[in-house]
Amino acid sequence: MEAHRNPYSPGAGSPPPALAGRDNEISEFDVTVQRLARGRAGRSQMLVGLRGVGKTVLLRKFNAIAAQQGWVCQHYECDEGTDLAQAAARLARTAILDLSPGKRLAEWGASALGVLKSFQLAWEVPGGGAVTLGFEPDPVPGRADSGDLGRDLADLFRVVGQLAQDQGTGVLFAIDEIQYLPAARLTPLLMALHEVSQLQLPLIVAGAGLPSLLGLLGEARSYAERLFVFSPIESLNREAAFEALASPAEEENVEWETSALEEVLDATSGYPYFLQEFGMQAWRMAPGPDRITRQDVITAVPLAKEQLDQGFFAVRFDRTTRAEREYLAAMASLGAQDCRSSEVARALGKTTRQVSTIRDSLIKRGLCFSPAHDVIAFTVPMFNEFLKRRL
Ligand SMILES: Nc1ncnc2c1ncn2[C@@H]1O[C@H](COP(=O)(O)OP(=O)(O)OP(=O)(O)O)[C@@H](O)[C@H]1O
Ligand SMILES: [Mg+2]
Repeated sequence: MEAHRNPYSPGAGSPPPALAGRDNEISEFDVTVQRLARGRAGRSQMLVGLRGVGKTVLLRKFNAIAAQQGWVCQHYECDEGTDLAQAAARLARTAILDLSPGKRLAEWGASALGVLKSFQLAWEVPGGGAVTLGFEPDPVPGRADSGDLGRDLADLFRVVGQLAQDQGTGVLFAIDEIQYLPAARLTPLLMALHEVSQLQLPLIVAGAGLPSLLGLLGEARSYAERLFVFSPIESLNREAAFEALASPAEEENVEWETSALEEVLDATSGYPYFLQEFGMQAWRMAPGPDRITRQDVITAVPLAKEQLDQGFFAVRFDRTTRAEREYLAAMASLGAQDCRSSEVARALGKTTRQVSTIRDSLIKRGLCFSPAHDVIAFTVPMFNEFLKRRL
Protein backbone atom coordinates (compact mmCIF):
# COMPACT_ATOMS: atom_id res chain seq x y z
CA MET A 1 0.00 0.00 0.00
CA GLU A 2 2.85 2.33 -0.84
CA ALA A 3 0.41 4.77 -2.41
CA HIS A 4 -0.93 5.59 1.07
CA ARG A 5 1.10 7.36 3.71
CA ASN A 6 2.36 4.71 6.13
CA PRO A 7 0.68 5.66 9.42
CA TYR A 8 3.13 3.72 11.62
CA SER A 9 6.48 5.22 12.35
CA PRO A 10 8.15 3.98 15.48
CA GLY A 11 10.81 5.97 17.25
CA ALA A 12 11.87 7.05 20.69
CA GLY A 13 9.16 9.35 21.99
CA SER A 14 7.59 9.70 18.55
CA PRO A 15 3.90 10.48 18.78
CA PRO A 16 1.98 7.22 18.66
CA PRO A 17 -0.53 6.70 15.89
CA ALA A 18 -2.96 5.86 18.68
CA LEU A 19 -2.21 6.16 22.38
CA ALA A 20 -3.99 2.96 23.23
CA GLY A 21 -4.58 1.32 26.59
CA ARG A 22 -3.41 4.15 28.83
CA ASP A 23 -6.76 5.58 29.86
CA ASN A 24 -6.18 4.96 33.57
CA GLU A 25 -2.89 6.83 33.70
CA ILE A 26 -4.29 9.68 31.64
CA SER A 27 -7.39 10.11 33.76
CA GLU A 28 -5.35 9.84 36.97
CA PHE A 29 -3.20 12.71 35.76
CA ASP A 30 -6.18 14.67 34.57
CA VAL A 31 -7.81 14.41 38.00
CA THR A 32 -4.58 15.54 39.71
CA VAL A 33 -4.38 18.66 37.57
CA GLN A 34 -8.04 19.46 38.19
CA ARG A 35 -7.62 19.02 41.93
CA LEU A 36 -4.52 21.20 42.14
CA ALA A 37 -6.16 23.85 40.01
CA ARG A 38 -8.89 24.02 42.65
CA GLY A 39 -6.34 24.38 45.45
CA ARG A 40 -6.67 20.79 46.64
CA ALA A 41 -3.94 18.21 47.16
CA GLY A 42 -2.67 16.09 44.30
CA ARG A 43 0.13 13.58 44.00
CA SER A 44 2.88 13.64 41.41
CA GLN A 45 2.97 10.63 39.10
CA MET A 46 5.88 8.40 38.26
CA LEU A 47 5.75 6.14 35.21
CA VAL A 48 7.91 3.07 35.54
CA GLY A 49 8.52 0.56 32.79
CA LEU A 50 10.83 -1.16 30.36
CA ARG A 51 12.29 0.37 27.20
CA GLY A 52 9.83 1.19 24.45
CA VAL A 53 6.61 0.73 26.44
CA GLY A 54 5.48 4.31 25.91
CA LYS A 55 6.63 6.28 28.96
CA THR A 56 7.84 9.29 27.01
CA VAL A 57 4.74 9.59 24.84
CA LEU A 58 2.64 9.44 27.99
CA LEU A 59 4.70 12.22 29.57
CA ARG A 60 4.12 14.25 26.42
CA LYS A 61 0.43 13.57 26.76
CA PHE A 62 0.54 14.83 30.36
CA ASN A 63 2.26 17.94 29.06
CA ALA A 64 -0.55 18.48 26.61
CA ILE A 65 -3.21 18.00 29.29
CA ALA A 66 -1.56 20.49 31.65
CA ALA A 67 -0.92 22.96 28.83
CA GLN A 68 -4.57 22.79 27.92
CA GLN A 69 -5.34 24.00 31.45
CA GLY A 70 -3.06 26.93 30.76
CA TRP A 71 -0.29 25.51 32.93
CA VAL A 72 3.38 26.17 32.37
CA CYS A 73 5.03 22.89 31.30
CA GLN A 74 8.67 21.96 31.10
CA HIS A 75 10.13 18.72 29.78
CA TYR A 76 13.55 17.58 30.99
CA GLU A 77 15.42 14.46 29.94
CA CYS A 78 18.10 13.21 32.32
CA ASP A 79 21.21 11.41 31.17
CA GLU A 80 24.20 9.83 32.85
CA GLY A 81 25.73 13.25 33.47
CA THR A 82 22.67 15.08 34.81
CA ASP A 83 23.18 17.23 37.88
CA LEU A 84 19.91 17.66 39.78
CA ALA A 85 20.73 21.15 41.05
CA GLN A 86 21.50 22.35 37.55
CA ALA A 87 18.42 20.69 36.09
CA ALA A 88 16.15 22.14 38.79
CA ALA A 89 17.57 25.62 38.33
CA ARG A 90 16.93 25.42 34.62
CA LEU A 91 13.39 24.20 35.08
CA ALA A 92 12.67 26.84 37.70
CA ARG A 93 14.14 29.65 35.64
CA THR A 94 12.12 28.87 32.56
CA ALA A 95 8.98 28.41 34.63
CA ILE A 96 9.46 31.79 36.32
CA LEU A 97 9.99 33.47 32.96
CA ASP A 98 6.89 31.81 31.53
CA LEU A 99 4.84 32.80 34.55
CA SER A 100 5.90 36.44 34.36
CA PRO A 101 5.81 37.37 30.70
CA GLY A 102 7.51 40.42 29.26
CA LYS A 103 7.33 43.59 31.31
CA ARG A 104 5.75 41.70 34.23
CA LEU A 105 9.01 39.99 35.04
CA ALA A 106 10.49 42.72 37.26
CA GLU A 107 7.18 43.02 39.07
CA TRP A 108 5.98 39.44 39.48
CA GLY A 109 9.05 37.31 38.99
CA ALA A 110 11.71 39.35 40.77
CA SER A 111 11.48 37.79 44.21
CA ALA A 112 11.34 34.27 42.76
CA LEU A 113 14.38 35.07 40.64
CA GLY A 114 16.14 36.27 43.80
CA VAL A 115 15.58 32.89 45.46
CA LEU A 116 16.76 31.19 42.28
CA LYS A 117 19.87 33.37 42.40
CA SER A 118 20.57 32.24 45.99
CA PHE A 119 20.14 28.64 44.88
CA GLN A 120 22.48 29.09 41.93
CA LEU A 121 25.17 30.65 44.12
CA ALA A 122 24.84 27.98 46.82
CA TRP A 123 24.95 25.11 44.34
CA GLU A 124 27.44 26.69 41.93
CA VAL A 125 25.00 26.45 39.07
CA PRO A 126 25.90 28.65 36.14
CA GLY A 127 23.14 31.24 35.80
CA GLY A 128 21.57 32.81 32.78
CA GLY A 129 20.10 31.23 29.70
CA ALA A 130 18.96 32.31 26.29
CA VAL A 131 16.73 35.07 27.69
CA THR A 132 18.42 38.09 29.26
CA LEU A 133 16.47 39.43 32.18
CA GLY A 134 17.15 43.13 31.74
CA PHE A 135 17.95 43.38 35.44
CA GLU A 136 20.12 41.54 37.89
CA PRO A 137 18.12 39.91 40.70
CA ASP A 138 19.66 40.09 44.16
CA PRO A 139 20.09 36.81 45.99
CA VAL A 140 17.80 36.40 48.99
CA PRO A 141 20.01 35.38 51.92
CA GLY A 142 18.65 32.49 53.93
CA ARG A 143 16.54 31.17 51.08
CA ALA A 144 17.57 28.13 49.03
CA ASP A 145 21.16 28.41 50.25
CA SER A 146 21.33 26.13 53.31
CA GLY A 147 23.59 23.63 51.55
CA ASP A 148 21.03 20.88 52.11
CA LEU A 149 19.78 20.08 48.63
CA GLY A 150 16.36 18.83 49.74
CA ARG A 151 15.62 21.99 51.70
CA ASP A 152 17.01 24.30 49.06
CA LEU A 153 15.07 22.63 46.30
CA ALA A 154 11.97 22.89 48.46
CA ASP A 155 12.54 26.66 48.79
CA LEU A 156 12.99 26.95 45.06
CA PHE A 157 9.95 24.87 44.13
CA ARG A 158 7.90 26.69 46.73
CA VAL A 159 8.49 30.12 45.21
CA VAL A 160 7.73 28.77 41.76
CA GLY A 161 4.55 27.10 43.01
CA GLN A 162 3.57 30.25 44.86
CA LEU A 163 4.11 32.37 41.78
CA ALA A 164 1.94 30.00 39.77
CA GLN A 165 -0.77 30.08 42.42
CA ASP A 166 -0.71 33.88 42.46
CA GLN A 167 -1.22 33.87 38.70
CA GLY A 168 -4.09 31.40 39.04
CA THR A 169 -2.25 28.70 37.12
CA GLY A 170 0.09 25.76 37.72
CA VAL A 171 3.43 24.25 36.77
CA LEU A 172 4.32 20.80 35.48
CA PHE A 173 7.89 19.55 35.40
CA ALA A 174 8.04 16.41 33.30
CA ILE A 175 11.29 14.60 34.03
CA ASP A 176 12.18 11.71 31.77
CA GLU A 177 14.83 9.01 32.27
CA ILE A 178 14.79 9.76 35.98
CA GLN A 179 16.71 6.55 36.78
CA TYR A 180 19.85 8.33 35.61
CA LEU A 181 19.76 10.61 38.66
CA PRO A 182 22.23 9.36 41.26
CA ALA A 183 20.43 7.63 44.15
CA ALA A 184 21.66 10.35 46.52
CA ARG A 185 19.79 12.94 44.45
CA LEU A 186 16.42 11.24 44.42
CA THR A 187 15.71 11.78 48.09
CA PRO A 188 16.23 15.57 47.95
CA LEU A 189 13.89 15.71 44.96
CA LEU A 190 11.26 13.80 46.92
CA MET A 191 11.73 16.04 49.95
CA ALA A 192 11.17 19.14 47.87
CA LEU A 193 8.04 17.71 46.29
CA HIS A 194 6.77 16.66 49.67
CA GLU A 195 6.99 20.25 50.82
CA VAL A 196 5.11 21.74 47.87
CA SER A 197 2.47 19.06 48.08
CA GLN A 198 1.92 19.78 51.79
CA LEU A 199 1.29 23.40 50.91
CA GLN A 200 -1.05 22.25 48.14
CA LEU A 201 0.77 24.45 45.68
CA PRO A 202 0.00 23.84 42.01
CA LEU A 203 3.39 22.42 41.09
CA ILE A 204 3.87 18.78 40.22
CA VAL A 205 6.47 16.54 38.74
CA ALA A 206 5.57 13.78 36.33
CA GLY A 207 8.49 11.41 36.12
CA ALA A 208 9.36 8.48 33.91
CA GLY A 209 12.05 5.90 34.40
CA LEU A 210 13.20 2.34 34.08
CA PRO A 211 12.33 -0.16 36.82
CA SER A 212 15.88 0.27 38.19
CA LEU A 213 14.49 3.47 39.66
CA LEU A 214 12.66 1.46 42.31
CA GLY A 215 15.93 -0.15 43.36
CA LEU A 216 17.61 3.26 43.55
CA LEU A 217 14.98 4.54 45.94
CA GLY A 218 15.96 1.82 48.40
CA GLU A 219 14.82 2.81 51.87
CA ALA A 220 13.24 5.99 50.55
CA ARG A 221 10.80 3.82 48.63
CA SER A 222 7.94 3.66 51.08
CA TYR A 223 8.25 7.40 51.59
CA ALA A 224 8.24 7.90 47.83
CA GLU A 225 5.17 5.75 47.45
CA ARG A 226 3.25 8.05 49.72
CA LEU A 227 4.26 11.07 47.66
CA PHE A 228 4.01 9.68 44.19
CA VAL A 229 1.56 7.58 42.35
CA PHE A 230 3.77 4.90 40.83
CA SER A 231 2.22 3.72 37.59
CA PRO A 232 3.69 0.58 36.09
CA ILE A 233 3.66 0.95 32.32
CA GLU A 234 3.59 -2.43 30.66
CA SER A 235 2.92 -4.07 27.33
CA LEU A 236 -0.55 -3.50 25.90
CA ASN A 237 -3.27 -6.06 26.44
CA ARG A 238 -4.97 -7.69 23.48
CA GLU A 239 -7.68 -5.09 23.10
CA ALA A 240 -5.32 -2.10 23.36
CA ALA A 241 -2.75 -3.71 21.05
CA PHE A 242 -5.44 -4.27 18.44
CA GLU A 243 -6.53 -0.67 18.79
CA ALA A 244 -2.95 0.59 18.46
CA LEU A 245 -2.68 -1.31 15.18
CA ALA A 246 -6.14 -0.96 13.75
CA SER A 247 -7.17 2.61 14.47
CA PRO A 248 -4.42 4.39 12.46
CA ALA A 249 -5.24 2.12 9.50
CA GLU A 250 -8.92 2.82 9.88
CA GLU A 251 -8.23 6.48 9.36
CA GLU A 252 -6.78 5.59 5.98
CA ASN A 253 -9.78 3.35 5.27
CA VAL A 254 -7.73 0.20 5.65
CA GLU A 255 -8.92 -2.75 7.70
CA TRP A 256 -6.88 -5.34 9.56
CA GLU A 257 -8.10 -8.93 9.49
CA THR A 258 -8.44 -10.26 13.03
CA SER A 259 -6.09 -13.14 12.23
CA ALA A 260 -3.50 -10.59 11.07
CA LEU A 261 -3.82 -8.71 14.36
CA GLU A 262 -3.44 -11.98 16.26
CA GLU A 263 -0.28 -12.74 14.33
CA VAL A 264 1.30 -9.39 15.31
CA LEU A 265 0.24 -9.75 18.91
CA ASP A 266 1.87 -13.14 18.96
CA ALA A 267 5.17 -11.84 17.58
CA THR A 268 5.32 -8.70 19.74
CA SER A 269 3.71 -9.70 23.05
CA GLY A 270 1.96 -6.33 22.82
CA TYR A 271 5.03 -4.13 23.36
CA PRO A 272 4.21 -0.72 21.85
CA TYR A 273 7.48 -0.11 20.05
CA PHE A 274 7.31 -3.57 18.46
CA LEU A 275 3.65 -3.17 17.53
CA GLN A 276 4.50 -0.03 15.63
CA GLU A 277 7.44 -1.59 13.81
CA PHE A 278 5.36 -4.64 12.83
CA GLY A 279 2.48 -2.40 11.82
CA MET A 280 4.79 -0.40 9.60
CA GLN A 281 6.27 -3.45 7.85
CA ALA A 282 2.90 -5.17 7.46
CA TRP A 283 1.58 -2.01 5.86
CA ARG A 284 4.54 -1.92 3.47
CA MET A 285 4.12 -5.57 2.49
CA ALA A 286 0.35 -5.52 2.04
CA PRO A 287 -0.73 -5.19 -1.60
CA GLY A 288 -4.01 -3.79 -0.28
CA PRO A 289 -5.82 -1.85 -1.41
CA ASP A 290 -7.93 -1.84 1.75
CA ARG A 291 -7.00 -4.88 3.82
CA ILE A 292 -4.08 -6.22 5.80
CA THR A 293 -4.19 -9.99 5.87
CA ARG A 294 -2.54 -12.66 7.98
CA GLN A 295 -0.36 -13.55 5.01
CA ASP A 296 0.84 -9.92 4.77
CA VAL A 297 1.95 -10.12 8.38
CA ILE A 298 3.72 -13.43 7.84
CA THR A 299 5.65 -11.83 4.97
CA ALA A 300 6.46 -8.81 7.12
CA VAL A 301 7.70 -10.65 10.23
CA PRO A 302 11.31 -11.24 9.11
CA LEU A 303 11.57 -7.64 7.89
CA ALA A 304 10.26 -6.21 11.14
CA LYS A 305 12.63 -8.39 13.14
CA GLU A 306 15.55 -7.29 11.01
CA GLN A 307 14.63 -3.63 11.51
CA LEU A 308 14.43 -4.12 15.27
CA ASP A 309 17.73 -6.01 15.34
CA GLN A 310 19.48 -3.25 13.43
CA GLY A 311 17.81 -0.37 15.26
CA PHE A 312 16.02 -0.70 18.58
CA PHE A 313 18.18 -3.56 19.89
CA ALA A 314 21.47 -2.66 18.22
CA VAL A 315 21.65 0.91 19.54
CA ARG A 316 21.62 -0.53 23.04
CA PHE A 317 23.94 -3.44 22.38
CA ASP A 318 26.55 -1.54 20.36
CA ARG A 319 27.37 0.83 23.21
CA THR A 320 28.52 -1.94 25.56
CA THR A 321 32.06 -3.05 26.38
CA ARG A 322 33.36 -6.55 25.71
CA ALA A 323 33.03 -7.58 29.34
CA GLU A 324 29.45 -6.30 29.42
CA ARG A 325 28.62 -8.27 26.29
CA GLU A 326 29.98 -11.43 27.84
CA TYR A 327 27.78 -10.82 30.84
CA LEU A 328 24.72 -10.20 28.64
CA ALA A 329 25.50 -13.34 26.65
CA ALA A 330 25.69 -15.35 29.86
CA MET A 331 22.30 -13.95 30.90
CA ALA A 332 20.81 -14.86 27.54
CA SER A 333 22.26 -18.36 27.74
CA LEU A 334 20.20 -18.91 30.87
CA GLY A 335 17.10 -18.47 28.77
CA ALA A 336 14.68 -15.94 30.22
CA GLN A 337 14.30 -12.13 30.52
CA ASP A 338 15.56 -12.37 34.07
CA CYS A 339 17.82 -14.72 35.99
CA ARG A 340 19.84 -15.11 39.17
CA SER A 341 23.02 -13.03 39.32
CA SER A 342 24.79 -15.92 41.00
CA GLU A 343 23.94 -18.19 38.09
CA VAL A 344 25.22 -15.63 35.58
CA ALA A 345 28.49 -15.48 37.50
CA ARG A 346 28.69 -19.25 37.51
CA ALA A 347 28.07 -19.39 33.78
CA LEU A 348 31.02 -17.02 33.38
CA GLY A 349 33.19 -19.20 35.65
CA LYS A 350 33.48 -16.37 38.19
CA THR A 351 32.18 -15.47 41.64
CA THR A 352 29.28 -13.04 42.02
CA ARG A 353 31.65 -10.52 43.54
CA GLN A 354 34.12 -10.76 40.63
CA VAL A 355 31.46 -9.70 38.14
CA SER A 356 29.57 -7.24 40.33
CA THR A 357 31.21 -4.18 38.72
CA ILE A 358 30.05 -5.30 35.29
CA ARG A 359 26.59 -6.01 36.61
CA ASP A 360 26.47 -2.55 38.18
CA SER A 361 27.61 -0.81 35.03
CA LEU A 362 24.91 -2.58 33.01
CA ILE A 363 22.35 -1.29 35.50
CA LYS A 364 23.81 2.21 35.40
CA ARG A 365 23.70 2.25 31.62
CA GLY A 366 20.05 1.29 31.78
CA LEU A 367 20.42 -2.08 30.06
CA CYS A 368 19.56 -4.17 33.11
CA PHE A 369 17.83 -3.77 36.44
CA SER A 370 17.52 -5.83 39.54
CA PRO A 371 13.85 -6.63 40.28
CA ALA A 372 14.76 -8.50 43.48
CA HIS A 373 17.79 -9.52 45.50
CA ASP A 374 20.19 -11.63 43.42
CA VAL A 375 18.04 -11.24 40.32
CA ILE A 376 19.10 -9.44 37.16
CA ALA A 377 16.81 -8.65 34.24
CA PHE A 378 16.95 -6.92 30.87
CA THR A 379 15.30 -3.48 30.64
CA VAL A 380 14.76 -4.03 26.92
CA PRO A 381 11.79 -6.32 26.20
CA MET A 382 12.69 -9.52 24.34
CA PHE A 383 16.38 -8.67 24.59
CA ASN A 384 17.25 -12.28 25.40
CA GLU A 385 15.81 -13.38 22.06
CA PHE A 386 17.76 -10.68 20.23
CA LEU A 387 20.99 -11.73 21.94
CA LYS A 388 20.44 -15.34 20.95
CA ARG A 389 20.04 -14.28 17.32
CA ARG A 390 23.00 -11.94 17.48
CA LEU A 391 25.50 -14.10 19.35
N1 LIG B 1 -0.09 3.30 24.07
C1 LIG B 1 0.50 3.27 22.88
N2 LIG B 1 -0.17 2.97 21.75
C2 LIG B 1 0.46 2.95 20.57
N3 LIG B 1 1.75 3.23 20.38
C3 LIG B 1 2.49 3.54 21.44
C4 LIG B 1 1.90 3.58 22.74
N4 LIG B 1 2.87 3.91 23.61
C5 LIG B 1 3.99 4.05 22.89
N5 LIG B 1 3.79 3.85 21.59
C6 LIG B 1 4.83 3.92 20.57
O1 LIG B 1 5.90 3.10 21.01
C7 LIG B 1 7.16 3.73 20.80
C8 LIG B 1 7.93 3.83 22.09
O2 LIG B 1 7.34 4.82 22.92
P1 LIG B 1 8.24 5.71 23.92
O3 LIG B 1 9.42 6.25 23.24
O4 LIG B 1 7.31 6.64 24.60
O5 LIG B 1 8.70 4.57 24.93
P2 LIG B 1 9.57 4.74 26.25
O6 LIG B 1 8.91 3.91 27.28
O7 LIG B 1 9.79 6.17 26.55
O8 LIG B 1 10.92 4.04 25.83
P3 LIG B 1 12.42 4.34 26.34
O9 LIG B 1 12.53 3.72 27.71
O10 LIG B 1 13.27 3.63 25.34
O11 LIG B 1 12.62 5.81 26.34
C9 LIG B 1 6.87 5.06 20.14
O12 LIG B 1 7.08 4.94 18.75
C10 LIG B 1 5.43 5.33 20.47
O13 LIG B 1 4.82 6.09 19.49
MG1 LIG C 1 11.44 7.35 26.71
